[in-house]
Amino acid sequence: MIHRLFALEFVRVTEAAAIAAAQQMGHGDQKNADRLAVDAMRKMLRSVDFDGTVQIGEGERDQAPMLYIGEKVGTGQGQSLDVALDPLEGTALCAQGAPNALSLIAVAEQGGLLHAPDVYMNKIAVGGEGSEVIDLLKSPAENVRLVAEKKGKDVSHMTVVIMDRPRHAEMIADIRQIGARIVLITDGDVQPAVACGLDSSGIDMVMGIGGAPEGVLSAAALKCLGGGFQGQLVFHKKGTHEVDDDQLQRAHHTMGLEDPQKIFTLDELVKGPVIFSATGVTDGSLLGGVKFLGNQRVKTHSLVMRSETRTVRFLTTDHDVSSHSILESDWVL
Ligand code: FBP
Repeated sequence: MIHRLFALEFVRVTEAAAIAAAQQMGHGDQKNADRLAVDAMRKMLRSVDFDGTVQIGEGERDQAPMLYIGEKVGTGQGQSLDVALDPLEGTALCAQGAPNALSLIAVAEQGGLLHAPDVYMNKIAVGGEGSEVIDLLKSPAENVRLVAEKKGKDVSHMTVVIMDRPRHAEMIADIRQIGARIVLITDGDVQPAVACGLDSSGIDMVMGIGGAPEGVLSAAALKCLGGGFQGQLVFHKKGTHEVDDDQLQRAHHTMGLEDPQKIFTLDELVKGPVIFSATGVTDGSLLGGVKFLGNQRVKTHSLVMRSETRTVRFLTTDHDVSSHSILESDWVL
C-alpha cells in the first residue's frame, strides 16, 4: 500500500518541473528546457518524506548527471518506493511551443516497476473495455477490430493515435484499410495513452513503437484508469532490423530481465499499487499548460491518480510563487 497523502506530494513534484520547463517554451532549446525540468523535479523530490529510488529516469548513471537510474530521491525517511519519472515528456514539443508537453511521475512499491532499458518498445494502449482483447501478436487492424467490437463501436468511429514515423508506414496503411480514424503525432506518446483511459478524450487506442521508459509510465497511468497495455522491447540496431545483442545482454544481466523479448502485460510492467501524476507544460487536450499570470502568480493543471482506489483527480492550482517553496533559488520569473 502507498499512503494516499503521497498523491498530493507527487503533484507538487510534477508542478515544479512543469513550471520550470514552461519558462523555456518556444525557445527552441530542448536540452535547456529538459535540464530545468530535471533540476526542479529533483529539488522538489528532496522535500518529500520517502526513501525513493529512481528506476526509470534520465538514463544510466554515467550518461545522466541527475535523476539517473538508481539515484536515491526523497528525504530518505519513510516508505521505500520506486520511481519512474520524465520531468519533461515531449522536449521538442516544449521547445517549439507545441501542444501536449507534460511533466510525469509514477511511484510504486519497491520492485513494482519494470526496469525498462532505454530502448524502443512496441506498444498497444487502450481504455477499459479493450484491455481483455488487445494482443501484440495480432495485426494492428485486427486489434482495432477487436477493441471496436468490445466497445460496441463501428470500426469507422475508432480513433487510433500513432507516432508519425517511417517505421509505422505499414501499420498506418493496415489501419487505414479498415477505415478507422488515425491521429498522427510528432512526439509524446504518453499523453494519448493516458487519454485512452478517459472516455471524454475520444481516443480509443495508441499503437506503435516509442520509448520503453514512456511505455512503463503509460502502463502506470492506465493501471490507475482500469485500462490495458502491452509492450515488447525492441532491440534493433538503429535503422535496421538486426538484433543488437549488446543491448539485449544488458537488459538481461544489468537490468535483470529474465526474458527481455517477451510481451509484457500491464501488470508485469507495473506490479502492485501505483500513483501517477502529470502536469501540463504546454496547453494540450488532456491538461492545460502552465500560465504565468503576472505578479508572481502561476497557474498549473494536473492529473493525479491512485490505482488502489482508481481515483482520478484533476487539479487546477494557483501558485503564489513569492511565498511558496515551489520556486527555488535560481528560478527566474
Ligand atoms: P523526449 O521527451 O525524450 O524528447 O521523448 C519524446 C518521445 O516522443 C516519446 O514520447 C516517445 O516515446 C519517443 O520520444 C519516440 O522516440 P523517437 O522520436 O525516436 O521516435
